[in-house]
Amino acid sequence: MWTFSAPLIAYGDHALEYLAQIQGKKAFIVTDKNIVKLGLAKLVTDQLDTVDIKWEIFDEVEPEPSLITIKKGGVAVAKFQPDWVIGVGGGSAMDAAKAIILLFARPDLEPDALSITETYNFRAKARLMAIPTTSGTGSEATWAIVLTDTVLNRKLGLGATECMPDVAILDADMVAGMPPLITADTGMDVLCHAIEGYVSTWGTTITEGPGLVAARRVFEYLARAYKDGKDIQARKEMMYAATLGGMSFGNAMAGLGHSTGHALGAIFHVPHGRTVGMFLPYTMEYLMNDSAETTAKYAEIARFCCGASGSDTECASKLVGEVRALAKAIGQPLSIKECGIDKAKFDAEIPALVDRALNEVMTITVTRVPGEEDLAKIFEYAYTGKRIDF
Ligand SMILES: [Fe+2]
Repeated sequence: MWTFSAPLIAYGDHALEYLAQIQGKKAFIVTDKNIVKLGLAKLVTDQLDTVDIKWEIFDEVEPEPSLITIKKGGVAVAKFQPDWVIGVGGGSAMDAAKAIILLFARPDLEPDALSITETYNFRAKARLMAIPTTSGTGSEATWAIVLTDTVLNRKLGLGATECMPDVAILDADMVAGMPPLITADTGMDVLCHAIEGYVSTWGTTITEGPGLVAARRVFEYLARAYKDGKDIQARKEMMYAATLGGMSFGNAMAGLGHSTGHALGAIFHVPHGRTVGMFLPYTMEYLMNDSAETTAKYAEIARFCCGASGSDTECASKLVGEVRALAKAIGQPLSIKECGIDKAKFDAEIPALVDRALNEVMTITVTRVPGEEDLAKIFEYAYTGKRIDF
């Protein structure tokens, strides 16, 4: 049996006005200082004020939120006793909101003990909402949580299925101010979610639709949003694509681009979307070289998104080329070298990169599961930009 999870989605012009319809008395807003400074948190609280919902802002979320921050949020939420917890920001703020609402239900737990198999019943106390200010992680439509253990210098992939937000609000006013580099980094993450979710061995007919539409919108609108941040149609379409991408990979799981990208990002501190987007074409070539089934699925995406025609192999190859062309058009690196990583330092870390990638679940949700040797070769090829020929 499979299940498909998604939040109620309020979207379109003035979508933030949905806040004035929610039932409740108190909202605990989880965000970061920059979102407050940019006036985006105020757009949320202004709506809450219209219906006299009391609010408190916890603005201490940092990129890749630490367990320490989550614990602080857990103390603050327990003190405030809200009936809504609202994550406002990029993936970090939304993920932090998910972890904090779990601690609200179980203040006795350490944040890194939050588990996918546990039931927390946090809705007995509060409901969860996500309002994205970037178009990338799709966290508003997934139950996943990524935190950082700053003491042991490790990333923690946590989450619980009940952490799917009850409501996601998609309002273009919240994403319109994203600078070009963040637009590009996060946009490549969307493409990776869409394509990897589509070919995942956990993918189904139900998850394919969101992935396919998300990929098409990225090819159509990401370069536009990157070149002209005021292009509101491009902003809106990328915002919707990000949520659809989240629905795709959140239910079907991502793949090798994510496991290799996570490994590189964790060791060399390169932003998530930039690394997974960079690895995407290499890992597509790797899967194509072994699986007619995956090649056929890439070909479907290419025909739907890029007007490709011809054999499955020709269409799938075109898709790989289109991914690289889009990355290039928006100033994204096409190789590890172009990420600015020193060769000697990279070589020294290959065993650690392989080890990290092997320990990611996304390494096994693909039609060709690499071992140590192949992973090391993928990393080596991706350093110089060599096409995968094995
Ligand atoms: Fe991602």
